[in-house]
Amino acid sequence: MRCERIWRDARLATMAPASTPDDPLGIVEDGIVAMADGRILYAGSAADAPRLDAGETIPCHGRWITPGLIDCHTHLVYAGSRASEFEQRLAGASYEEIARAGGGIASTVTATRAASAEALLSASLARLDAMLADGVTTVEVKSGYGLTLETEARMLRVARSLEQERAVRVSTTFLGAHAVPPEWRDDPDRYVDEVVERMIPVVAEERLADAVDAFCEGIGFSPAQVERVFKAARQAGLSVKLHAEQLSNLQGAQLAARYRALSADHLEHADTASLDAMAEAGTVAVLLPGAFYFTRETKRPPIQAIRDTGIAMAVATDCNPGTSPMVSLLLAMNMAATLFQLTVPECLIGVTRNAARALGLQDQIGTLEPGKACDLAIWDVEHPAELVYAIGGRPLHARIFGGFHA
Ligand code: NIG
Ligand code: FE
Repeated sequence: MRCERIWRDARLATMAPASTPDDPLGIVEDGIVAMADGRILYAGSAADAPRLDAGETIPCHGRWITPGLIDCHTHLVYAGSRASEFEQRLAGASYEEIARAGGGIASTVTATRAASAEALLSASLARLDAMLADGVTTVEVKSGYGLTLETEARMLRVARSLEQERAVRVSTTFLGAHAVPPEWRDDPDRYVDEVVERMIPVVAEERLADAVDAFCEGIGFSPAQVERVFKAARQAGLSVKLHAEQLSNLQGAQLAARYRALSADHLEHADTASLDAMAEAGTVAVLLPGAFYFTRETKRPPIQAIRDTGIAMAVATDCNPGTSPMVSLLLAMNMAATLFQLTVPECLIGVTRNAARALGLQDQIGTLEPGKACDLAIWDVEHPAELVYAIGGRPLHARIFGGFHA
């Protein structure tokens, strides 16, 4: 079989669904990956490989190869910083108090509205470069700091343009229902009208976003308002996801499940009825331990119940200026393990196979299997567990995007 490139003498963690329970990572010790047309032609043991006629062969000297990592929940594009709010919180103010006093998301909205597309791009690229250095090859990016059609569209265009600037796949999400902007404070329902009637149709028509998200919370939007957003999204042919049960339980996850959401994210305050609904709908639980850590939340998501119901778990950075100013997906895995007691395989599958599902991209990325994009991370580690265990290291040897060294 003719292929363009082969990585040989590697150890693989394919992340393909386990054939045996004692091998959750799909480990192949004498592994090779063969690529043609940017896709994986073969990934598996060298001994079982078909005859491969390669243009180029790259020796990996026993290094580990995993699928390129996927950060499936970020607010990467924004302007400004919230360091002063961090100091207020250290002095005792809560995230909700700051938000209700006009700070929080609203303060990033002010900074983001004032920023040009060029300024937004350069601030975002600095953060993106740090993510890529951790082996990320796909990143989801939400809008939500513009909150007018023009500024939301600007954020989404900047997010899309990251694909031209770097070798990365970007999945964009419209988060117009992130906060009620100051000009609509006295009439939140009219702002929801604006999101539903004006913004979503344009976002869909101009293909600015791949999905629609909302913040279902006392300081965000009620379930009834979120439902209107979901209806409009589905009508426009867009899939949905939800920031649900981060600070309180408004039954957002159940609502998300009813709309067959790709994911429900955060879930600290989720109850078992919501988890049953998510399991039934195939909605992924996206865990965001960076936000839990940074807001000094004490209620952990119900991990054991999530496991018991068989819901797929993903892990992401939630990179944002207010609750998770974090760019390291490796650190997010470490936090998911230490703070939420995820197992090492759960963390690794959570930033690959399950993260792909949370974006609806499971047919294209997330595992080392034939037909998937040849997005790889090649690591200088003795075992993939080190990717979860170590804090602040630089284990990445190489990042391959669509079959090319990136
Ligand atoms: O995922 N919860 C809402 N959105 C973000 C926080 C955004 C902000 O504070 O700027 C989150 O935690
Ligand atoms: Fe978020």
